[in-house]
Order: sequence, then structure tokens, then C-alpha cells
Amino acid sequence: MLEITDLSVSYGAIKAVKNFSGGAKDGLITAILGANGAGKSSLLRAISGLNLITSGSIKLDGTDITRLGAHERSRLGIAHAMEGRRLFRHLTVEENLRLAWRFGTRRVLLKPALDDVYARFPILAEKAKIHAGLLSGGQQQMMILSCATIRSPSVLLLDEPSLGLAPLITTQIYQFISDFAKSSNVAIMLSEQMAAIALKVSTDVCVLRQGASVFSGSKQSLIEQGRAGNLSSMYL
Ligand SMILES: Nc1ncnc2c1ncn2[C@@H]1O[C@H](COP(=O)(O)OP(=O)(O)OP(=O)(O)O)[C@@H](O)[C@H]1O
Ligand SMILES: [Mg+2]
Repeated sequence: MLEITDLSVSYGAIKAVKNFSGGAKDGLITAILGANGAGKSSLLRAISGLNLITSGSIKLDGTDITRLGAHERSRLGIAHAMEGRRLFRHLTVEENLRLAWRFGTRRVLLKPALDDVYARFPILAEKAKIHAGLLSGGQQQMMILSCATIRSPSVLLLDEPSLGLAPLITTQIYQFISDFAKSSNVAIMLSEQMAAIALKVSTDVCVLRQGASVFSGSKQSLIEQGRAGNLSSMYL
């Protein structure tokens, strides 16, 4: 479980995240929605320790991790699939997966962890010996998710998992995310500009506008307030 209180991120004079409070619950998905530049990636990077914060606190399962470095947060179980599909392009699919596993909490042994990835995404088994840079965009997104989940995280941060993908692949990717949340009991926080797909799988929602939270609550309350279909007016 992730608990964030009053968190702010600045780049010089630019206030990218303003006093954000929220979190993610075990086994559930929290969607962070917002337009370009709303502060979604800045928030996720602050949680994984890649961005410095100007105020606030972050707790993982009740322990304050605000002052820990990114590598220590990673060791404690925070996995972050960053924007831009970052893979080791000149390593093979399997080499990428082995590396990711080594950096994780190693709750599952390597062999069953790899078998699990290949059962979920058989195309990755077929391409196991191929350089990751040669995969299609959809296959790379499968790799990104597999590298994040093979680490047996307790918190999973996903930055715009649908970005640039065809609708069919997006549906497959989201099915995987939804199944993984349920089967692993991991707390997932994902950012998206495309609200509709994220709302399908999430239970909690936060809408960011120019760094500030303009809605935070359950998806149910968003729907009951009649605001789910009109999110773009909250974004802009
Ligand atoms: N490294 C940086 N240096 C300076 N300003 C930055 C930096 N990264 C982000 N910003 C600014 O911070 C604000 C929030 O950016 P951020 O990337 O967090 O938004 P986002 O919601 O992830 O947008 P997108 O949907 O385009 O990915 C923007 O005004 C952006 O220009
Ligand atoms: Mg972003």
C-alpha cells in the first residue's frame, strides 16, 4: 500500500506537482488522469525516487520512504515502468527479463518467473533470443510490463501503458494489468491521457490539472457525480 501526503515537485520555477495527496491500495488500480504536462510522470517519478520533491511524504506499507534513494525503493518493491519504453535494446528479450528479475525482490525463482512471462505473452517466448530493440511497439510494451512484474513488486507504477499502441494491443495490455493486480495483490498506480480505458480497470481515480488534483476518489463517486463522461472539461 502506498500513501502520499502533500507531495510537490518543482523544476526551477515550474511547479509540476502541487500538494498531491493520494495513494494506491493492494490488489487495486488507481488511475492518474490528465492532459499533456499535467504532472503525471513527475508524480510517478517522485514516488519511485527519480525526481526530487520540494515537500511531502511517501509511505510504503506504513514505512516512511521519503528519504530513500530510487535503488532502495526498488529493493523494497517499488517497480516503475517509465514513459518511453525503456529497454536494453541491444540485449535479447531473455537477457532483459533476467536483468529485471535480478533487480527485483526475487520472491519467485528465475525459471518459474520466466515461464510465467512466456505463458502470459507467448510471443515473447518465440522472440526470446532476439534483440529487444527489434520488437514491435506492442511487443516492447509487453516486455516493459514483464520486466516490471517479473520483479515481484509490491507497488507497480505504470506511465501511460497505452501510448502509441493499436486499440487491440491496448486491450490486451490492459487485460494483463487487470489480471496481474488481482492475482498478485500488488498496488498499481497508472497514468493515462486516455481516460476511458484506464477507467475500465481502475477502482480509484485522481485527475490532475496543471499539477493540481481536481478530483480524487473512487471511480464510483466519479460516475455518481456524473463526471466520468466529461473528464476532458476537468483536464483543460
Ligand atoms: N525535466 C524537466 N525539466 C523542466 N520541466 C519539466 C521537466 N519534466 C517535466 N517538466 C514540466 O513539468 C510539467 C509536468 O510534466 P510531466 O511530464 O510530469 O507531465 P505529464 O502529465 O506526464 O505529461 P505527458 O502526458 O505529456 O507525459 C510540464 O509543464 C513539463 O513541461
Ligand atoms: Mg508523462
